[in-house]
Amino acid sequence: MDIRSFRDGEGDRLRTFWLACGIQLRPGDDDRSLAAFALRSEGLFLVAEEHAHLVGSILAGFDGRRGWLYHVATHPDERRRGIGRTLVARVEERLAALGCPKVNLLVLDENPYAMRFWEALGYRRERTVEYGKPL
Ligand SMILES: CC(C)(COP(=O)(O)OP(=O)(O)OC[C@H]1O[C@@H](n2cnc3c(N)ncnc32)[C@H](O)[C@@H]1OP(=O)(O)O)[C@@H](O)C(=O)NCCC(=O)NCCS
Repeated sequence: MDIRSFRDGEGDRLRTFWLACGIQLRPGDDDRSLAAFALRSEGLFLVAEEHAHLVGSILAGFDGRRGWLYHVATHPDERRRGIGRTLVARVEERLAALGCPKVNLLVLDENPYAMRFWEALGYRRERTVEYGKPL
């Protein structure tokens, strides 16, 4: 398995992969946004590829105060092989090297499998409620 940075022009491939993983596309998943994210987050926007197929993804950002993780996903046929764990470990290492003191992420409340995954990786559920506003 090859873990590498997202490349320009891979947006369609990645969106198809996310849909196959059951991830709903959100604001920020268009080509322009993905390219901007990749530029700001060098070494933190990773894909895992095997036999020319995408098998995993992770987008991590550091805003100077917190690290944020998005779209951590493993292809349904490749789950429980440690791909998610490996991708998270890779970006945690890079975030720590950048001086990031804490990592956050959001989980949909109807996604118990993701919760088990995060808990297995040492993440703890926090007592916060998400607010948002599209711009
Ligand atoms: C959550 C997800 C990324 C996990 O990816 P993965 O590559 O299968 O995870 P790993 O193999 O690295 O699992 C690491 C550990 O997490 C736990 N875990 C992972 N999936 C689990 C599940 N379905 N049920 C219970 N525990 C689970 C296990 O402890 C596992 O270790 P083990 O296999 O040695 O027991 C994957 O299921 C996925 O893509 N889900 C859909 C998208 C999604 O919900 N992403 C998270 C958004 S917040």
